[in-house]
Amino acid sequence: MQEKVIFITGATGGIGKAAAFALARQGHRVIIHGRDKGRTQRVQQEIMEATRNKHVDYIVGDLFLLAEARRVAHALIDRYERLDVLINNAGGIMSNICALTAEGHETTIALNLLTPFVLMQELLPLLRKSEDGRIVNVSSSSHRINAKPDFSDLELVNGYNPLRAYGNSKLFIMFVTEMLSEDLRGKGIENVTVNTMHPGAVATGFGVQSDLGPVLNALSKVARLFFRTPEKGAETLVYLAADAVVKGVRGKYFIDLKPAVVSRKYDSIENRKKVWDYCARVMASVEAVR
Ligand SMILES: NC(=O)c1ccc[n+]([C@@H]2O[C@H](COP(=O)([O-])OP(=O)(O)OC[C@H]3O[C@@H](n4cnc5c(N)ncnc54)[C@H](OP(=O)(O)O)[C@@H]3O)[C@@H](O)[C@H]2O)c1
Repeated sequence: MQEKVIFITGATGGIGKAAAFALARQGHRVIIHGRDKGRTQRVQQEIMEATRNKHVDYIVGDLFLLAEARRVAHALIDRYERLDVLINNAGGIMSNICALTAEGHETTIALNLLTPFVLMQELLPLLRKSEDGRIVNVSSSSHRINAKPDFSDLELVNGYNPLRAYGNSKLFIMFVTEMLSEDLRGKGIENVTVNTMHPGAVATGFGVQSDLGPVLNALSKVARLFFRTPEKGAETLVYLAADAVVKGVRGKYFIDLKPAVVSRKYDSIENRKKVWDYCARVMASVEAVR
């Protein structure tokens, strides 16, 4: 097996950490990302000791911020000659009260859509240097259940609620994944593929800090008892990142190692383009913090 260079965001806990362990165990060169330096370094040590893989690197950055996503991407470009896999895993559901990032974006969409978009765009040249470049975006079945987008108000200035914002962000990441996949194919770029996946309902830190209101808080506490482990939740991510079987597979949504059906309820060329253009416009307005 050829060693891959794999960058995974949000690898300090939950599904990302489990995926980083599994990929390091397979012998790949894994770069973990976290937003807290101490926590990220501790996870790096843990992975290196448990897997006996010395090639575990780390990068710190707050992925609420597009400028930080740009800085993280440039740090990778400075350090590595090629990137084989980008895993956009960092993400989450926020609280009942709508919060904005320091750059003025609604936090759910910033973390789950805008910064993954920046990482994809900025890291594409590095991925193109790979013979088998892959991008895997972690989405969710919430795109089917909770999404209710308003395409003239993507950040929900009106009508915010955390589940809706989360479902929308996971729908939008699917739109941009499919669009990027088609764009790459249209340009004849065959050596970089993009896919999305849903990890299942997984017992992680997901939603634990989010105040969804008393009813949903209590329900999610009970439901977590029946959720799958982070290791199980990471299986499809690891498969899409590193398995030879899915080399060349592109533009698909996976659940439990199989292609799954994407909800087409809000899908149209026009709506996709609105999401893509919005991401591109926001990205263009932000300079990298160096
Ligand atoms: N768990 C589920 O049932 C489930 C279901 C469907 C989809 N997903 C998706 O799976 C992905 C991983 O979630 P998880 O369940 O593993 O949740 P988690 O345990 O909360 O892990 C989320 C990761 O994202 C990082 N993160 C959060 N905010 C960040 C920020 N502003 N900047 C940088 N990193 C940040 C966290 O880092 P810190 O350690 O710094 O907080 C953590 O490493 C997410 O995209 C989520 O939407 C989860």
